[in-house]
Order: sequence, then C-alpha cells, then structure tokens
Amino acid sequence: MKTILVTGGLGYIGSHTVVELINAGYTSVIVDNLSNSSIKVLDRIEQITGIRPIFYQCDIQDKQALTDILYKHQIDGVIHFAALKAVGESVQNPLEYYQNNVSGSIELFRQLKNHNIKTIVFSSSATVYGDPHKVPIKEDFPLKPTNPYGWSKLMIEQVLRDLYTSDNQFKVGILRYFNPIGAHSSGLIGEDPQGIPNNLMPYIAQVAVGRREYLSVFGNDYATHDGTGIRDYIHVVDLALGHVRTLEYLSNASRDNLLTVNLGTGRGYSVLDVVQAFEKASGKKIDYKFMPRRSGDIAACYADTNLAQQLLGWRARFGIEEMCRDTWNWQTKNSNGYTN
Ligand code: NAD
Ligand code: WQD
Repeated sequence: MKTILVTGGLGYIGSHTVVELINAGYTSVIVDNLSNSSIKVLDRIEQITGIRPIFYQCDIQDKQALTDILYKHQIDGVIHFAALKAVGESVQNPLEYYQNNVSGSIELFRQLKNHNIKTIVFSSSATVYGDPHKVPIKEDFPLKPTNPYGWSKLMIEQVLRDLYTSDNQFKVGILRYFNPIGAHSSGLIGEDPQGIPNNLMPYIAQVAVGRREYLSVFGNDYATHDGTGIRDYIHVVDLALGHVRTLEYLSNASRDNLLTVNLGTGRGYSVLDVVQAFEKASGKKIDYKFMPRRSGDIAACYADTNLAQQLLGWRARFGIEEMCRDTWNWQTKNSNGYTN
C-alpha cells in the first residue's frame, strides 16, 4: 500500500481525490491550512470511505512543520492541490498569489527533494492557455496566461519541468484541469465557495436553492451557438480518478516520466446549455439576466483529450446530466455548504 501526501486535501478537488485514493487502496496524509476549506470535510471523507485520513493543519510554507511530517511518514508521492484560486482576487493581490502559490510550491518541492520524494502530481489549469487561437485545445498550444493566478500555475509548471531536467529520477504529472463541477454522489462532499460564487455552477446551484435571486449571464454576443460562453465542464469525480491514474502511470518507471495532460471531457457547453441541464436535473426554474461580458473571459475553451486517453487510458465518464444531478444533490443536502 502506498502513502500519498495530499496538499490542499480538504478542498473541493482534493477531498474528492482523497476519497478515490482510499477507494484505490492508498493511504492519504493531508496537509491543509484550512484557508479555503472546512475541517468537517475530514468527517465526511470518513463517512464515505470508512477511513479517516491522517490530517495536519499546516501551511505548505511552514518549513519546520512540513519537515516534521515528512520525517514522521514514509511518503511515496505527492498530489499538490494547495493554492489560492480566485482569478479576480489574484489581479487585486498578485503578491499574495505569487507568495502562496509559487513560493509555497518551491518550499514544498525543496522539502520533497530533501526527503528523496520524487513523485509529484500538480494541479495546473486550462487557464495557462489564455485565449486559445482555436479549440479544442492541445497540450502543445502556446501558453499565455492573462492574470496572476494563471501565471502562478505556469511558473510552477516551469519549476517542475526544470526540476525534472535537473534530475530525471523525478516523476512529474502536470494536470491541466478544465472546469470541474459536480460532487460526490453521496452528497457529503462538494464545492463550498465562500461569499458570492465567482464560478457558474455554484452560482446556478445557489439560485436554484433560493440563496440568490437570479444568475447574471456574462455576455450573449460571443461567436457561439447561443452567444454565451462555452466551457468544458468535467465531473470532479472523473477528475479525481484522473489523479489516481496519473499516479499509476508514473509508478511504471519504463515510460516518460514528465507528463503534461489536459483533463477535460472534450465537449463544450454554453452558459445557457448548463442552465437548461440544471433546470432539468433539479426541476427548478433558474432565472437569469443577460449582462455585459466579464472582463478577461473568452468565447470558447474545451480540451483535446486524446493525450490523456492515449497515455493514461483515462477518459471522463460522466456527462452534464450527472454533473448537474450531483451538484443539486450536494446543494440540497448542504444548502449552506459545510456551515450549519
Ligand atoms: P480549493 O480552494 O477548494 O482547495 C485548495 C485547498 O488548499 C484549500 O483547502 C485551502 O485551504 C488549501 N490551501 C491553500 N493554500 C494553502 C497553503 N499555503 N498551505 C496549505 N493549504 C493551502 O480549490 P480547488 O478547486 O479544490 O482547487 C484545487 C487545485 O486545483 C488548486 O491548485 C487550483 O488552482 C487547481 N484548479 C482548480 C480549478 C477549479 O476550477 N476549481 C481549475 C483548475 C485548477
Ligand atoms: C464559466 C462561464 C462565464 C459566472 C474559471 C477560472 C479558471 C479555472 C476555472 C482555476 C463563463 C459564465 C460565470 C456567472 C456567467 N479555475 N458565467 N455568470 O471563467 O471558465 O474559469 O474557473 O484554475 O482559471 O478562470 O469559469 O465558472 O467562472 O465561468 O455567465 O455568474 O460562465 O462568463 O462563460 P471560467 P466560470
């Protein structure tokens, strides 16, 4: 049985990945500073899996605490989720984003190197492509982020590429996620944004449950089938399974051990397509109003998923119906997220 250090493991994607790691027979050691998550997630993971993961409330920048953890546990690999992730906030507070995401990652990687831990899976984002010249987006497209959050992800990717070049005993998986939505089918864990949601799906879910009056649809004049923005939404459980597959791939030493892949479904849905699918799944009417475009948004973004299929033998199984169904199940069971 292998032991995986999961940074940010109580967050949205991290918690779903810990569940799938446990299902696959791994032991998880979670490090999270709880800056954007709740300690209740630990109970929920235990309720789902029957196993309580080892947890440390710790910042990845805390050298001493991290060293103590790495001495205490025999860690075989790391999945590194811990990061700040709000695009608009990163424009307002770039230093905080570069400090937490970039400096934090460098500190973490230094500790891993010191402890001879050489398998690293990293949460990157489709945001590193910026506004792509065409869709679907392939991994070798130009990388040109448009905000500090995106730059922080690209900088960490580069640090990892250089680390691998310096010592190819490292095994590195860089995973570029498209738009994760949905929740575990139990409804016990899901996305719990603080304050007003920035992202489409949690906003729609809060309208459906009556916490918000209507959805503002940002732009209806894009060159898309209905004028609204198109994205590649992926079920968070599919995404979690992509991490487990990546660990399996990297543990096979005979192959190329610096991997950069898109994790998406390869299908694009517009804002209005998602509204419609959510209405169907929930039986609720989602009121919306058209508003001007949101600054920095692009018309369409969806993945070419061939590389993930070829290399990892992984593809997303869930469709938009299941993504909406599971979001609704989570939202109705936890109308205020993890807060009572
Ligand atoms: P999240 O905020 O729910 O999870 C991140 C977790 O990291 C939180 O629990 C937070 O408390 C923790 N954290 C942040 N900084 C930390 C630090 N310095 N030390 C320790 N813990 C820290 O976000 P998420 O949606 O689960 O995203 C996980 C990862 O995936 C992030 O790296 C994010 O950038 C990336 N990503 C997310 C999306 C998305 O749309 N959700 C898309 C692409 C990439
Ligand atoms: C989706 C579509 C909006 C909210 C962001 C980050 C990206 C990645 C995923 C981390 C767009 C429209 C949204 C609303 C709307 N995160 N929309 N009304 O912008 O594709 O990606 O999250 O890496 O970096 O930028 O996702 O969910 O915000 O927007 O009309 O209230 O929904 O304009 O077309 P986005 P999103």
